[in-house]
Amino acid sequence: MIGVISSAPAKVILFGEHFVVYGEPAIVLAIDRRSYAKVENRDDRRLFIHSSNLNLSGYYEDQVFRIQQGDYKEARLKFNPIKLAIDKVLSKYQDANIGLNVEINSTVPVAAGLGSSASVVAAVTAAVGAALKMNISKEDILRIAFEAEKVVHGTASGVDPAIATFGGALLFQTDTGFKPLEVKADIPLVIGDTGIQRSTRLQVAKVREAKEKYPQVFDPLTRCAQEIVMRAIDALKENDLDSLGELMNINHALLYGLGVSDESLEWLVTAARKAGALGAKLTGAGGGGCMIALAREEKLGAVSEAIQTRGGTPFIAKKTDEGVRIEQG
Ligand code: MEV
Repeated sequence: MIGVISSAPAKVILFGEHFVVYGEPAIVLAIDRRSYAKVENRDDRRLFIHSSNLNLSGYYEDQVFRIQQGDYKEARLKFNPIKLAIDKVLSKYQDANIGLNVEINSTVPVAAGLGSSASVVAAVTAAVGAALKMNISKEDILRIAFEAEKVVHGTASGVDPAIATFGGALLFQTDTGFKPLEVKADIPLVIGDTGIQRSTRLQVAKVREAKEKYPQVFDPLTRCAQEIVMRAIDALKENDLDSLGELMNINHALLYGLGVSDESLEWLVTAARKAGALGAKLTGAGGGGCMIALAREEKLGAVSEAIQTRGGTPFIAKKTDEGVRIEQG
């Protein structure tokens, strides 16, 4: 049986996480780590999902889920947005009960703030559409992935599905949506995974508490976050890595002040700066998850090593302009 393979990128938030929830702008970058989905038609009516990196597989038949590998509850939870996205695609197909094999392979660390879930959902949506020879636009993929992501993250801002779909660098604001940003350089980053899985919901709630308790303190921080993003847009345009690094450090200080950094992130951020990074900050929700360090090519190795020495898992990443795409089929 001929299968279709598609892929979508992971992301990092360069600037503006958390403040974006309150209407401020954020800058998001697609990185060259991707999730892959292979989809084949089946002759029966079962929907099989297999995730090789999560070691989970099972199938749905008449909306009932049966586990084949791994923990039932975990599989249901992890497969939930994928199933939802597939149902949405199938609702537009002539036979909503068609059987499919869906195989997922992701090189993106899970629950680390890198948008692994959205990249999987975008890749699966594109592959199912292509396997059924449907005409699914990127806008359709974004809408479906956004709906599916809402199930996982509650009040997610929609950053992750957008960047997984379109790639590149995006300026995002809740009231105006997405705008592609002109970025000349590759933006060489070292991403450090603390290995501590965190809940976005919990971190967002923590910031809301601080905002409600100290509105006069929070408001100027918000304006400051907005200015950081404005300066960063110029720096990205001019390929001014030094300023970008400095702005990342200031942005991290704001997030630290809101209480969303933790000890594991502080170790890695400090180690990266000491090893010659131009700047370093947490990325995404914080409280564990990942940090990012901006460094010139010749320092990437030393920064990676420093992150590893402090107990993090480093990998080098660059911007990718490729959003969701069909790889084969
Ligand atoms: C999480 O990746 C980013 C947050 O700003 C939440 C959101 O934008 O939905 C913390």
